[in-house]
Amino acid sequence: MPHLPLEPPPAMDQPRTLLISGAGRGIGRSIAERALAEGHRLSLGVRDPSGLPEGPLIEAVRLRPDRVFLHPYDAREPRQARDWVEATLAHFGAIDGLIHCAGVFSRVGLLFEPGQEREIDDLWRVNLMGPWWLTRAAWPALVASGDGRVITLVSMSGQRVKGSLAAYPCSKFALMGLCQSMRNEGWNAGIRVTAICPGWVNTSMASQVKALAAEAMTQPEDLATLTAQLLRLPASAVPFELKINCQLET
Ligand SMILES: NC(=O)c1ccc[n+]([C@@H]2O[C@H](COP(=O)([O-])OP(=O)(O)OC[C@H]3O[C@@H](n4cnc5c(N)ncnc54)[C@H](OP(=O)(O)O)[C@@H]3O)[C@@H](O)[C@H]2O)c1
Repeated sequence: MPHLPLEPPPAMDQPRTLLISGAGRGIGRSIAERALAEGHRLSLGVRDPSGLPEGPLIEAVRLRPDRVFLHPYDAREPRQARDWVEATLAHFGAIDGLIHCAGVFSRVGLLFEPGQEREIDDLWRVNLMGPWWLTRAAWPALVASGDGRVITLVSMSGQRVKGSLAAYPCSKFALMGLCQSMRNEGWNAGIRVTAICPGWVNTSMASQVKALAAEAMTQPEDLATLTAQLLRLPASAVPFELKINCQLET
């Protein structure tokens, strides 16, 4: 029998049912593995469920369907957001947390070349409209929870614009706006929203970065620790915005 981190540690007296997008790799996968070890119930949205790599998540999908549920989810398809939420509610009966990790990067700049507008459109669909459709679909369940949480992987690119990047920071500034709207809309229903804004994180997204060694970047496991702590905080103590710097920001 493989070892699974399935039993909640004693401090976790209120496990949550969490929807996590982009859970197949990168930051989303680290957050999902840590949330599983913390005792939460997980509904994982991935584009290709058959491609989920070996590890604790897929083991739990096979052995503990009461703890982990897997569903196809492409952030560009609003219908899939609705289907995933409905299937999760049918499976677990509730949703009290949403963690948006799916996202794409682009180097497209202000004076984009002909044809690059398609990449900009795609970025908006995944980075902004994906979280928007998914939040909208899950909202009644988050309200019903009375203590819902939404955690969104934004970026320091949602705080300032560096160099010649345009498409990516524009999508992340818009995502910060969405986080503020979610916060306003959800406050009286007990929903608390956190925008996590890292600089470079050591995942495949940052693998082209030459100026910073992988070990000097923020590690996805550290964002998973941060997320685990956020999920333990009461509604009266949840921070709205966390800037995570691995380099001095001036
Ligand atoms: N890495 C960084 O330096 C950094 C810094 C700040 C913020 N962030 C943000 O953190 C989030 C996670 O990034 P990461 O570093 O984990 O990147 P990553 O390793 O490239 O992973 C990206 C994740 O997004 C998913 N995804 C991409 N397009 C999708 C779509 N159309 N529908 C559903 N899922 C989709 C991928 O799924 P597939 O496996 O199906 O492709 C994958 O799980 C992103 O929003 C990113 O902008 C990253």
